[in-house]
Amino acid sequence: MSIKITWLGHSAFKLESDGHTYLIDPFLTGNPLAAAKPEDLDAEIIFLSHAHGDHLGDTVDIAKRTGALVVTNFEIAEWLQKQGVEKTHGQNPGGGCQHGLVHAKFTVAHHSSSFPDGSYAGVACGFVLTFSGKRLYFAGDTSLFSDMRLIGDQVIDLAFLPIGDNFTMGPEDSLRAINYIRPRAVIPMHYKTWPPIDQDASEWGNAVNNETTAQPIVLDPGASYTLV
Ligand code: NI
Ligand code: MN
Repeated sequence: MSIKITWLGHSAFKLESDGHTYLIDPFLTGNPLAAAKPEDLDAEIIFLSHAHGDHLGDTVDIAKRTGALVVTNFEIAEWLQKQGVEKTHGQNPGGGCQHGLVHAKFTVAHHSSSFPDGSYAGVACGFVLTFSGKRLYFAGDTSLFSDMRLIGDQVIDLAFLPIGDNFTMGPEDSLRAINYIRPRAVIPMHYKTWPPIDQDASEWGNAVNNETTAQPIVLDPGASYTLV
């Protein structure tokens, strides 16, 4: 079964497969690259990597309106309940759980995390999502780390990696990450949104082609790629 992936700008993605829709880090309001309005999005499950505003984004509004399950870390799941989100599920790095058709295993991400008021939001995470016969690795906001090799050992079809630099790994480290993860294809994220994370994605794509075995998938905001 194929998976259609749409980049909504920054680290926000829509995943569609077999009539089911999932969202990752749906930051749209205030996102200069936003390719959708939060009120136009529907989702069964929202996967949320950490609590920073450029990831938490419109999660509360979308979850309340659609009744989506929010799968995130334990602390954020508890906090979302207090915001009136009914269906939440908390995990932590190393832990996997089946949610309907999607298996989600949380990974470490080397990054900070806090709620909008600055309070503790648990650790920042990434996740490995397995569904429709494919395995996707969404790194979240993170630096390069050598244990990405272990994630790659699970055989990743598609990786989502930040390339913006400054807050996360930049283009050069992302090439090393790709060689650790060894995915079939890789989508860059967390770049171009604001000046501190501006990057030339086509240059990055050339480097991926030259220095790794992965296929770079550079999307414009709103554009889609179908993983088959
Ligand atoms: Ni962050
Ligand atoms: Mn971020």
